[in-house]
Amino acid sequence: MSARILDGNALSADVRARLAEQVSQIKLRGITPCLAVILVGDNPASAVYVRNKVAGCEKAGMRSLRFDYPADVAPQVVLDKIAELNADDSVHGILVQLPLPPQFDEKAVLEAISVDKDVDGFHAENVGRLSQGQRAFFPCTPHGVMKLLEAGHVDVSGADAVVIGRSNIVGKPMAMLLTQAGATVTVCHSRTRDLASHTRRADILVVAIGRPMFVTGDMIKPGAAVIDVGMNRIPAGMPNEGKLCGDVDFASAKDVAGAITPVPGGVGPMTITMLLSNTLESAERQAERQEGRA
Ligand code: GUN
Repeated sequence: MSARILDGNALSADVRARLAEQVSQIKLRGITPCLAVILVGDNPASAVYVRNKVAGCEKAGMRSLRFDYPADVAPQVVLDKIAELNADDSVHGILVQLPLPPQFDEKAVLEAISVDKDVDGFHAENVGRLSQGQRAFFPCTPHGVMKLLEAGHVDVSGADAVVIGRSNIVGKPMAMLLTQAGATVTVCHSRTRDLASHTRRADILVVAIGRPMFVTGDMIKPGAAVIDVGMNRIPAGMPNEGKLCGDVDFASAKDVAGAITPVPGGVGPMTITMLLSNTLESAERQAERQEGRA
C-alpha cells in the first residue's frame, strides 16, 4: 500500500490564508508586521531561501526589509545593523540567513538579535525557553514539522520518534518539540552505530541529515510517519540527475511508510509559513505591549 502524503503545500496555503486574515486585522490597529532579513555573501541556496521569505511576507500583506552584504563584510557592520533594527519599533522580526562566512562568530550574531524579535528561534534564550516548555519562538522548520504531524492526525504522544541529525536549526529543536508533545525521542547522527536498528523502531522518523535519498524503505517501520527535511539535488550519474530530492528515497519509502512528506512540497513550504506566523505573533505581542501602555 502507498503511504498517505503529508502535503505541505496544501497545509501551508491554509495556514497562510488564515495569517493574511490576521495581518489585515492587526493593520486595522495601526501595525503592519515587518520582517527584516539579512543576507551575507552569495551562497546560491541562501539567496533562494531569502527571496522566498521576502516574497512570502509580501503575499501575506506583511512588510519586509532586506539587507545584502558582500561575503567579506566586517562583522561589526552587520552587528550595527542588527542593533539599529532592534531599536526600530516598526520591525517585528529579524532574521540573519545562515550559514555566515568564516570571519563571523555565528553565535554572537544570533545573540545580538533581540529575543523579542528572534523569529527564527535561534537565540540562546529562546532555545532555553523551548527546552523548559515555556512560551518562545520555535525554530521554523521543526515547528512546521509539528504542524504537519498534527494536520496529518499522526499520534505523537507515546510514539517512538527518531530524529536523524543534531543541528541547532533542525535536529535538536525537533527533538525538544517531539519530547514536549509526549514522544520518546532518539537523536541519531553521523556517529550513530547501526542506524537502521534505530530507524526501524520509529513510529515517527524525521530525517535531516543532508544526504540525498539516504533513508531507504528497508530502514522504515511499516506504517511509520516519515518526515523528510532534506533538500538536495540528485547526484550526477543517477536517474533524474540534478532534480530536487530529499534525504529519503521516496520511491522505496512510500510503499512501507503509513504517511510521508514529499520533496518538494512537504516540509519546505511550512518553514516559511512558520516564519510568517512567528513574525505576526511578534507584532501581536508588540501591539499588546503598546496597548497596555496606552
Ligand atoms: N539556513 C538554513 N535554514 C535556516 C533557517 O531556518 N533560518 C536561517 N536564518 N538560516 C537558515
